[in-house]
Order: sequence, then structure tokens, then C-alpha cells
Amino acid sequence: MKKIKIAVLISGRGSNLGAIIEASKDTSFPAEIALVISNKKDAGGLILAQENQIPTVFIDHKLFDNRAQFDQELTKVISDSGCELVCLAGFMRILSADFIRNWNNKIINIHPSLLPSFKGGNAVEDALNYGVKISGCTVHYVIEEVDSGEIIDQIAVEILENDTKESLAARILEKEHILYPRALKKVCEKIQTKIS
Ligand code: GRF
Repeated sequence: MKKIKIAVLISGRGSNLGAIIEASKDTSFPAEIALVISNKKDAGGLILAQENQIPTVFIDHKLFDNRAQFDQELTKVISDSGCELVCLAGFMRILSADFIRNWNNKIINIHPSLLPSFKGGNAVEDALNYGVKISGCTVHYVIEEVDSGEIIDQIAVEILENDTKESLAARILEKEHILYPRALKKVCEKIQTKIS
């Protein structure tokens, strides 16, 4: 089966990118990272990608007049690389409606809570403050409404009595590294079935 070319979009350390890189070293893994894009020049994930001979592009959102123009550049770069799927992995920009429509059902994201609970940028802290006993992580399709697309896969994480935001985030992150490759495999196998 032909591997599905993916673009991974990051803004920071890129530990989820690292998990996808490791998974894709298995020859039977259905995805191949063709490109890593960051909107931050100093994103740790860029170095990780380069160490693994994966092409990287830095696109500085500050150089664009508005979100639509930045997103058009993103679309151009992703299309030129031949990627069929966009994986958001700690990408800290909201994508425009046009971008999401353009890549309809071809963008996935990882979020550190059991969606639909605790959407938004403070998911770990919000879960802790609410007092839920179980949180976790979710990989989902991206639609216009933030953190709301169809759920692909999830892993639950128990919240412990003495958890802090940091300790809980660290345990959730460990599960993210299992979840993202697993969900990606599922999505890519679905795409492969459609095109075969
Ligand atoms: C993760 O917690 C992920 O759930 C969230 O952003 C963080 C990215 O971490 N969307 P990393 O850059 O993959 O290490």
C-alpha cells in the first residue's frame, strides 16, 4: 500500500511529532512525514525533524497582514509537498474557515482532555480545577468550531489526589505519544482503503 504523505504543523517542542517520527520508522506504518511546518523559528520540533532528515519549513505568521494570507501560504506549501493529510501537533494558531474547508476532513489534532469536555487552551488546568477524576487525551478531526470535530480515538488518564497541572499534563502527554500514532494509523488506513 502506498504510504499517505502527511504534513505535521507545530509551534513548540514537538514531542508528539517525535512520537509520530518514531512510529513512522516502522516500514508497515501507513504514513510518511513529508514535511514539518512551524510558525515559530525556535520550535524544538524543527530540530527533531531535521535530525531525522525530514524537510522543514518555517512560516512566520507575523509577516502576513491577516490570518487568511498566512493560511493561503500554508495551503500552498502543503499542496506543493504532495501531502494529503495535515496533523496539528501543538500548533498554536487558529486556522481560518477557508483553510479548514479547503482541507475538509484532512486535518487532525491532538487535545489534552477527553473531548467534548474541557475544550480550549487550558484543558489540563480546567479539568483539574473542575475536580473530574478522569481526564485524558483526544485525537479528532478539525472543523471550524474549535476542538469539536469527530473523535478518532481517546485514552483516559486518572487524576490523582495530589496532582498539579504539571504532573497531570506530564501523564497525559505520555498517553498522547501512544494515541497520536495510533489514531494516525487508523486515519491513514481509511484513506488507503478509499484510494485502493
Ligand atoms: C500537547 O499537550 C497537545 O495536546 C497540545 O499541545 C501540546 C503539544 O506538545 N495540543 P508537543 O509540542 O507535541 O510536545
